[in-house]
Amino acid sequence: TKITILISGNGSNLQALIDASTTTMPHLKIVRVISNRKQAFGISRAEKASIPTLYHNLVAGKYLPAGEKDPAIQQQGRQKYDADLADFVMADGPDLVVCAGWMHILAPSFLEPLSAKKVPVINLHPALPGMYDGVNAIERAYNDFRDGKLEKDRTGIMIHYVISEVDRGTPILVREIQIQKGEMLDELTERIHEEEHQIIVEGTALAIIKIWEERQ
Ligand code: GRF
Repeated sequence: TKITILISGNGSNLQALIDASTTTMPHLKIVRVISNRKQAFGISRAEKASIPTLYHNLVAGKYLPAGEKDPAIQQQGRQKYDADLADFVMADGPDLVVCAGWMHILAPSFLEPLSAKKVPVINLHPALPGMYDGVNAIERAYNDFRDGKLEKDRTGIMIHYVISEVDRGTPILVREIQIQKGEMLDELTERIHEEEHQIIVEGTALAIIKIWEERQ
């Protein structure tokens, strides 16, 4: 099974998938890692594992000219960026696209061509379904916990299908995480990251099983 992984940063979840592909999931082939940040450490992880990489940047590239303020032109640039991303991804013929810390909202100009070719896109998000969509999800859950506003003192992690509403697609796998009394934000963050490294592998495996079931 061929997968493309989209990243923006450290790539520890990418690493978990690289490790799985050489151990428990030998059928898994990571055909490319794409980053929207040049400095992303995940790029080095991919190179070390001899996985082809691509740097595809919105701001520094031809898509958003520096200083451009016109929202219509910005919007056009975004759509074109995502359409080109779809072309780059599809050129490798993946069965599945995994967003592992991809800090970029995927536009319909990316999602529609993939959906037309039946290539699902999945995402890892450190919150329970319907809660804390978008950035800083762990911190926002933690602050609500601290302020006594978090129901049952729990947050979580999910893998879900990507749709154009951020972090709102159908969940594939959900894991609850109980926040402990006296726990600091960085301790919770570390605990969630460790758990994520399992969830990303399990969630990817479940998405792959579904793809193969649908092809039968
Ligand atoms: C993870 O916490 C993921 O849930 C979030 O971004 C982070 C990526 O971490 N969307 P890494 O780059 O895989 O280490």
